[in-house]
Amino acid sequence: MNILGIETSCDETSAAMLCHGEVRSNVVSSQRCHTLFGGVVPELASREHERLIVAIVEAAVTESNIRKNELDVIAATAGPGLIGAVMVGLCFAQGMAYALKIPFVPVNHIEAHIFSPFINEGSSYPPPEGRFVSLTVSGGHTLLSLVEQDLSYRVIGRTLDDAAGEAFDKTGKMLGLPYPAGPVIDKLAMSGNPAFHLFPRALTSASQSSKNYHGNFDFSFSGLKTSVLTWLQKQSAEYIEAHKADIAASIQSAIVSVLVEKTIAAARSQRIKAVSMAGGVSANSALRNAMKTACDKAGITLHVPAAVYSTDNAAMIATLASLKLSRGMRAECRYNIAPYASFTAGARKAGLK
Ligand code: KG4
Ligand code: ZN
Repeated sequence: MNILGIETSCDETSAAMLCHGEVRSNVVSSQRCHTLFGGVVPELASREHERLIVAIVEAAVTESNIRKNELDVIAATAGPGLIGAVMVGLCFAQGMAYALKIPFVPVNHIEAHIFSPFINEGSSYPPPEGRFVSLTVSGGHTLLSLVEQDLSYRVIGRTLDDAAGEAFDKTGKMLGLPYPAGPVIDKLAMSGNPAFHLFPRALTSASQSSKNYHGNFDFSFSGLKTSVLTWLQKQSAEYIEAHKADIAASIQSAIVSVLVEKTIAAARSQRIKAVSMAGGVSANSALRNAMKTACDKAGITLHVPAAVYSTDNAAMIATLASLKLSRGMRAECRYNIAPYASFTAGARKAGLK
């Protein structure tokens, strides 16, 4: 089966071709126009998607060596995301499927992240086989889910405030780093000391409120943000500049240690021996190393896609459509699927808990 996937939920315009389960192409264009503003400007994002969508889809189809009339299905993100941005890819995909008279499959972006470890290409980790605990960490979401063999899943923990990616981006902005700061902190931290300053780790065994910790798989990163801000305000500009790498490493360590501790605790509590990571933050090298070490110690198998499939990409959209179709979902020739902005609204629509 030849599936064209399209993703435009935030600031990446992406199209990918999945042919008989193999990623033949995955073209991703990351919008640079937001850097100046220190965050994604929704209106600019939609306009950029509009400008690029035809060229990106053409590039993905051409690179795959599949002709458009050989496409069997088109899949696109229907949400959650910036509504105008989602709408560009969703309308384009439904229009194209309608013109080609082939079925269209709407995909939930967060679910696509959750199932991205099923993408084999370029990963040194195997795809999951049975039940697994998924840590999904992106710019807008931080979720722990319990995924069953039949691909149904239940969210068992989520952030109470900021997402992990937001914590990277906002604390990075305080350090004067460009948007998105996550990958910049990752690089900077490589030459820094993670024990330089101990920033708070909320809702963990080490936190003040450890009585609230046991069996609690929720996250909170807003306290970290405040703590970084107030600590930086007490330091001189010269001191911050001289210790930028140490501060970056200390912030990263605070985020990573919480993510690892909660994920392993969740797997233990469910007696599950498999853990996966997905979403932009899971491209973080310190998180990958720390999670691998913790999993090895606990006798847990780790499943992580290659870094290009951790951040936003259309291959994961086509992959989830393929998984659903191979498990009996019927693709319909309906081309009036509406976009949605929030994960819960989308999950409700899809009939999930
Ligand atoms: O999944 P994603 O590409 O888009 C969303 O759905 O949000 O995630 C983007 C987030 C941003 O916050 C970005 O800073 C973060 O992922 N990110 C990273 C790294 N690469 C991307 N955070 C830490 N380390 C990285 N290497
Ligand atoms: Zn994402």
